[in-house]
Amino acid sequence: MTAHFLGYFISFEGIDGAGKSTHIESFANLMRERHPDREVVMTREPGGTQLGEQLRALLLDAPMNLETEALLMFAARREHIAQVIEPALMARKIVISDRFTDASFAYQGGGRGLSLEKLNDLEKWVQGRPDGSLLQPNLTFLFDLPGSIAESRRSKVRAPDKFEKMDLDFFERVRQEYLRRAKADSKRFYLIDATRTPEEIWNDLMLLKIKL
Ligand code: TYD
Repeated sequence: MTAHFLGYFISFEGIDGAGKSTHIESFANLMRERHPDREVVMTREPGGTQLGEQLRALLLDAPMNLETEALLMFAARREHIAQVIEPALMARKIVISDRFTDASFAYQGGGRGLSLEKLNDLEKWVQGRPDGSLLQPNLTFLFDLPGSIAESRRSKVRAPDKFEKMDLDFFERVRQEYLRRAKADSKRFYLIDATRTPEEIWNDLMLLKIKL
């Protein structure tokens, strides 16, 4: 993250059914309470812009070639960064995104097998800054749990989207790639043991001191 951004960028990650959605709204409210002088922007990927939401509908529904899927994820991300994330960070806002690039490495890379090299190239292209650095979240919460528990937690009411229909092996690969990235960048990641109850997880989140 480059120094000239005055804002703070937080992402929430984890396999489908890990429980991140339960906490993201409450966490945004906690940040609003703790930092009344700062505006909190909630957003999500894929999505976050009008075009991004149209791409989301396609990505979560239409079967497609793996490279096409990765390119569309990053196309949606480019628009999201240009229209929402960068302007908010320049205006000192706190940006909270339900998923960001770690999800592409985990799902398209770990899950579906796209090469790290291609993902790194796309990341450089889409998140590269004029000074050569990459736009990254300041903090990433990774909700971690075994694929089998996540599967049993996934909504039985809502029809599963394209990714939610994938098998257990797929989610185990996604999980391992998330964990590998968390290990490689332990300063940015905050690992959450998502096998615990929502109350226990919330207590954990509340105790965390974030220095903006
Ligand atoms: P998700 O964030 O879980 O939303 P919901 O709670 O509404 O299901 O769904 C987004 C899906 O998109 C999820 O299965 C992960 C997938 N995804 C990727 O495969 N790659 C990406 O880069 C991103 C951002 C998401």
